[in-house]
Amino acid sequence: MQPIKNKSFFARIFPTPKFLTTPAVGIDISDNSVHFIEFKDKHGDRVLNRYGSYVIPNGVISKGEIQNVEALTDILKKLKDKYNIDFVHASLPEEKAYLFKTQIPESVSDKDIRNIIEFKLEEHVPISPSVAVFDYEILPKHEDKQKHLDVAVAVYPKQTITKYTDAFKNAGLTLLSLEIEAQAIARAVITKGDKGTYMVVDFGKTKTGLSIVSNDVLSFTSTLEVEEGALTNAIMTNLSVSSEEADHIKNEEGLIKTKDNKKLFTELMKVAESFKDDINKHYRYWATRTNEMGDRVDPISKIIICGGNSNLAGFPEFLSGSLKIPVERANVWVNAFSFDDFIPEIDRFNSFSYTTAIGLALRDAV
Ligand SMILES: Nc1ncnc2c1ncn2[C@@H]1O[C@H](COP(=O)(O)OP(=O)(O)OP(=O)(O)O)[C@@H](O)[C@H]1O
Ligand SMILES: [Mg+2]
Repeated sequence: MQPIKNKSFFARIFPTPKFLTTPAVGIDISDNSVHFIEFKDKHGDRVLNRYGSYVIPNGVISKGEIQNVEALTDILKKLKDKYNIDFVHASLPEEKAYLFKTQIPESVSDKDIRNIIEFKLEEHVPISPSVAVFDYEILPKHEDKQKHLDVAVAVYPKQTITKYTDAFKNAGLTLLSLEIEAQAIARAVITKGDKGTYMVVDFGKTKTGLSIVSNDVLSFTSTLEVEEGALTNAIMTNLSVSSEEADHIKNEEGLIKTKDNKKLFTELMKVAESFKDDINKHYRYWATRTNEMGDRVDPISKIIICGGNSNLAGFPEFLSGSLKIPVERANVWVNAFSFDDFIPEIDRFNSFSYTTAIGLALRDAV
């Protein structure tokens, strides 16, 4: 097993900042899109500098696995050439990640920690250690007299990671870090310093990622099994409109005004219900868990939603009404700047699609 040196894909949500003369660009690659964000310093304040998105044609990446490294390299190269980008932080799809927590004796050396974790991989993840790449993070102690270390481990199939690193390298970009997408999202949407327990749900175009973050640590991730594009498709077929018009209807009318069109409302509700059921399953499961000390884990106090489909009108109200827990749309800029100081060009509707890229670009944040 070879760890990827200096390209930690598992770090605290707020890692120790690196000091670079130019802040690195956050690049979020998903199955059908690349989003990038670059901040800059303006008189000592962080402001949004450049940003953008590109469509990735079908077949280049499927469920987070790169199928065509050359095609992705070309897209990244265009991005590099157009914006003269050099240093980047990028994310890895959570579909391919395995997370687990384990305990190791306190007295072991750094080198031995790796060996011990490697030894434990087989009992925790369904891939062979010989084809796995892992990273770990030592968690804060529960109590002073604790005699062991709690360690959070993230594992990826080696070939999944290599294809991402190859695409960046071949495009001439310098990859400073790779991390799980959910971790970048958490860095964008959870207020820095907030040690609470939250479920974060990213409603994207091709997938819905669910994660639970507690005390600054990404503790759980899952990808929900909801039919791709289900909401948009229901509107497009029902009202014979384009996907742009469908987005508009989704965002403006959503679960509220479509009540007048019984058939469409029923179809949208069916999709919303299926999201709710999946979320509820994970919410209930979390509540039954105990930590390494046998104590109940902290309960989830709020669900934060992001991703383009979180725009669905009436969605947070529907979820919180049926789950009986606060649900809110993210402020994806909460750790970037205050709206009193800077108003970004990206409007609120579009901002949800940039959540991951924002979190990645914030890796350099002090
Ligand atoms: N203003 C908007 N901008 C972009 N997408 C929007 C907007 N309003 C609604 N959407 C919907 O959000 C979805 C795109 O979400 P998002 O940009 O988060 O996806 P993605 O990150 O490209 O895909 P993935 O699911 O692979 O992460 C589309 O289904 C689109 O219809
Ligand atoms: Mg996405």
